[in-house]
Amino acid sequence: MDKESLAAVASAIVASGKGILAADESTPTMGKRLALIDQENTEVNRRDFRQALFDTESMEHFISGVILFEETLEQKSEEGIRLSKILESKGVYPGIKVDKGAHPMDSSSSEKITKGLDGLYERCVDFYKLGARFAKWRAVITIGEGIPTDECIQANASALAKYAKICQDANLVPIVEPEVLMDGNHTIEICYEVSEKTLRTTFNELEKEGVYLPGILLKPNMVISGKECSVQADMNKVAQMTVKCLMASVPEEVPGIVFLSGGQSETEATEHLNAMNAMGEYPWKLSFSYGRALQQSALHSWGGNNANLATTYAVFYHRAEMNSKACHGEYSPELEI
Ligand code: 13P
Repeated sequence: MDKESLAAVASAIVASGKGILAADESTPTMGKRLALIDQENTEVNRRDFRQALFDTESMEHFISGVILFEETLEQKSEEGIRLSKILESKGVYPGIKVDKGAHPMDSSSSEKITKGLDGLYERCVDFYKLGARFAKWRAVITIGEGIPTDECIQANASALAKYAKICQDANLVPIVEPEVLMDGNHTIEICYEVSEKTLRTTFNELEKEGVYLPGILLKPNMVISGKECSVQADMNKVAQMTVKCLMASVPEEVPGIVFLSGGQSETEATEHLNAMNAMGEYPWKLSFSYGRALQQSALHSWGGNNANLATTYAVFYHRAEMNSKACHGEYSPELEI
């Protein structure tokens, strides 16, 4: 483990005003995204849309890293250039999703455990050789009747910690992503309680495994009302409760917290991040690692047709710029086009 380079990469990813594009949808998930624009889930469609994002001129002013699915790490453009090289040429770190998905737990079938530890070290070594400098593993915690169970939180935290240690041994910065889902009719208070418990358990496990905290990034959900909750907390409450939860559970050595968007709209995700950064200074950088909240409008602009590339670039650039402003607490809805 090269601690110095792990810490340097983690800090560079959350350098001032920069964040991550999560473009690591698995092939079936990408199929769902392409279905929204009536396009087939072909390798060419997956490549062309992702290449449009990566080709966007000056996106590197706002995007420091892109999380890729395995297919994309080795995929080539029509001109025969590896997509990850396009990122590297702009000084953007390629990252790689290394988990093998969330599967129903044996002991509690409405809950999920993320798998993928088998052969992980060898895979990480190969990914490093292919240019990846960071990795991602997503654990999923569901709120519902009688869940999450302690077993689910514990098992996912333990797997996240083992993954993080293996990544660091292979010199990849691990993004530790314990996602408490927005699905459900729970209140923001319940989300707070579950998120704090999940984060505390995760950091306990990271410590037990001997994970080097300056060489990780945390990717949590925001503390937010369940999607079907009849009372939706407003922007300030989301920002205040999210910060309170992180202050109570995330050690200061962690260089950055990069939120997932988790089903929030593009502007909600930007507004919430902005509100937190406008509220004060924190021991860690607060930035973004958005999937849907960075890609949705760009996907619709592209529409499966490369004749629309110019508008696709403009729309993606704008979304990335808005989130960069949110990292400084300088976003305002009036800046939307
Ligand atoms: P969303 O921002 O769409 O939640 O995606 C982020 C991600 O990487 C989920 O694992």
